[in-house]
Amino acid sequence: MEHLLDILDLTTAEIDKLIDVACDIKANPDKYCDSCKRKKLATLFFEPSTRTRLSFESAMLELGGSVIGFSDASNSSIAKGESVADTISVVASYADITAMRHPLAGAPKVASDKNLIPIINAGDGGHNHPTQTLADLMTIKDKFNRLDNLTIGVCGDLKYGRTVHSLTRAMARYSNNKFIFISPKELQIPDYIKKELDEKSIQYIEVCDLESSMTEVDILYMTRIQKERFADIEEYERLKNSYILDTDKMKLAKENMIVLHPLPRVNEISVEVDNDKRACYFYQALCGKYIRMALILHLLSCTTSTPAHPPLLPTQEKCNNPKCITSTEQEIKHYVKNGVCQYCEEKIK
Ligand code: NCD
Repeated sequence: MEHLLDILDLTTAEIDKLIDVACDIKANPDKYCDSCKRKKLATLFFEPSTRTRLSFESAMLELGGSVIGFSDASNSSIAKGESVADTISVVASYADITAMRHPLAGAPKVASDKNLIPIINAGDGGHNHPTQTLADLMTIKDKFNRLDNLTIGVCGDLKYGRTVHSLTRAMARYSNNKFIFISPKELQIPDYIKKELDEKSIQYIEVCDLESSMTEVDILYMTRIQKERFADIEEYERLKNSYILDTDKMKLAKENMIVLHPLPRVNEISVEVDNDKRACYFYQALCGKYIRMALILHLLSCTTSTPAHPPLLPTQEKCNNPKCITSTEQEIKHYVKNGVCQYCEEKIK
């Protein structure tokens, strides 16, 4: 059985195939309208969502399947103290595949450790968001007809923005891509991502100023400052208006660049930019539906029992990150490799 927890769970060949299938679905929807007949998708959303949940649900419905689930954890038994492991053990009796969003890093991994039905990570805390990345990649491929040789400006909350972490990991696998990380000092991209880039000798710079990067970028990936992840609300208030992309800044940019945003937007892109033909974020949301259709088809057809990651032995060493699922899950086994928790990828302190 295959799960999608991290974008690196898919090979680049598998990603190419998913994009091809998604494009075929977009062009010939009728061909796929019964592909998931009698199959059920469970959407377990322990954290708010509009696009991701609705795009998963419409993806499954357009494949002829059906959908069960919840969009608010206070309606589920989690509110009574149920663990993620127990929740998935029950849901697996009702559904064929699950998309899970959770405020704690590593929660979908806990569900996938049971290996009962395919688990899709629909966003785990400030950690990863691989299906948003698939939507991003499909959009980029559509606009540039390639995923390599691009300069990607990533702007905003690079610390807590999970979409940024998954996108960087994904784009780092294609040759000659360069990154410009644009953020306030307090919200820089995590060290573990920079370490991965360093190990692969991938070019990147970290800057604070958006304006000076405008001329360079082929892709400008704007993100929201992730209010809900701040421990100190005053820090959020201080940083919330760090970047606003407006038509004046767009005048500096290349003619054939594109602007992406995972959405929801707060104020980091002025609405007048929506009329610029380089603004692709609503198209990106549309791609999200087709690529999730392709992903559901892929995961439901995978019958291999080889896990994506070789099994690790539980350790005595424990993760103490309060934003990791290991901090709340009952009966959790800890997996630590080279001093790094395998659920949240933070260094053990
Ligand atoms: C993103 C998320 O949930 O991480 N939204 C989405 O899935 N499209 C981005 C965000 O919330 O800022």
